[in-house]
Amino acid sequence: MEIIDQIPVSKTLEINAVATKLKNKGKDVINLTAGEPDFPTPEKIKEKAKEALEKDFTKYTNSKGIVQLRETISKLLEKKNIFFDSNEILVTNGGKQALFNALLSVLDKDDEIILFSPFWVSYIPMVLLTGAKPVVLETKFENSFLPDLDELIKLVNPKTKAILVNSPNNPTGIVYPEEIVRKISEIANENEIFVLTDEVYDSLVYDGNFVSFANFVKDELLIYINAFSKSYSMTGWRLGFAALKNKLIYNRMTKLQGHTTSSVNSIAQYAATVSILVDNSYMIREFKKRRDFTVKKAKEIGLDFVYPKGTFYLFFKSPIEDDELFCKNLLEEKLVALVPGSAFNAKGFVRLSFANSMEKLDKGFKRIKEFILKKLAGF
Ligand SMILES: Cc1ncc(COP(=O)(O)O)c(C=O)c1O
Repeated sequence: MEIIDQIPVSKTLEINAVATKLKNKGKDVINLTAGEPDFPTPEKIKEKAKEALEKDFTKYTNSKGIVQLRETISKLLEKKNIFFDSNEILVTNGGKQALFNALLSVLDKDDEIILFSPFWVSYIPMVLLTGAKPVVLETKFENSFLPDLDELIKLVNPKTKAILVNSPNNPTGIVYPEEIVRKISEIANENEIFVLTDEVYDSLVYDGNFVSFANFVKDELLIYINAFSKSYSMTGWRLGFAALKNKLIYNRMTKLQGHTTSSVNSIAQYAATVSILVDNSYMIREFKKRRDFTVKKAKEIGLDFVYPKGTFYLFFKSPIEDDELFCKNLLEEKLVALVPGSAFNAKGFVRLSFANSMEKLDKGFKRIKEFILKKLAGF
């Protein structure tokens, strides 16, 4: 209870709530806070869900997930040159539950886990709930938000149990180059530290190749996390998974799942077995177009940002020092909702989601421009 009381509410949800309230009052709000694709779930997956209902596939399933889905995931990973057997895969309620189960299964009270900030809003609350200590390495805009590896080495000590990595990254949109992935993995391997790798955005990469930590981390130290949420536009289905060869951790995670949620929704699991036949490249092409458009518009109005090679986020320097005030005033005065960087431990930055139509993005940028010009003029 005490720990839960110490955890802040999600700032992304907070700003979203304000935006929704304004929208419900009939205001023309441009909400660019979304952490989810705006496409419908692919038709084949929806059809398969209907089939599950018709077949009365509506009961508890194996806690690990149905074997057909675990086999599908194994094949999907194989296409990415990542190799896990179906019995090394645990289906979870979104990537979120995979992460939390993994953290609870790896960390003891007072253990340390290293995270690179800016980071996704839920990491720190999840770590605190385990009783472990989050150790934050702050990455810098000037260094393209890549971690300084000398600093990482200095943070490693006998209490360090794990490193949590996230590439492609929410909120910065950066994708770690191979060199960085390899070196972080080497540091973890040499020091026998677990690597929890959150790769939920791995299909949303627009330039160059994505390099997974699965290629370099030792088998017994790797906890690979992914989900259907972003890659198949299935955020509401709550379908993710962990893949790991370490049996001790795998069994802990499965036990935990059995006692907390029993299993994942049977219909969602059944539906996702068809994902191997779904071509999601149209979404990625569209996101790339929107990324290019967003970057162009952001440059035109003079925003300062690191080029997003992946995800659907643009992370830019707040035009005024106080990012929370910037977002609050922008929403109140121009009805554009963005997320302050403070939500991600990055004061002075702002996150804009381009998981929105070009028309909305265009309108949003026009209003942001007007707002900035007005601020610069000192009104
Ligand atoms: C970095 C990151 N990891 C994990 C998740 C959780 O994904 P899911 O919806 O599958 O639980 C999100 C969702 O926004 C995310 O941004």
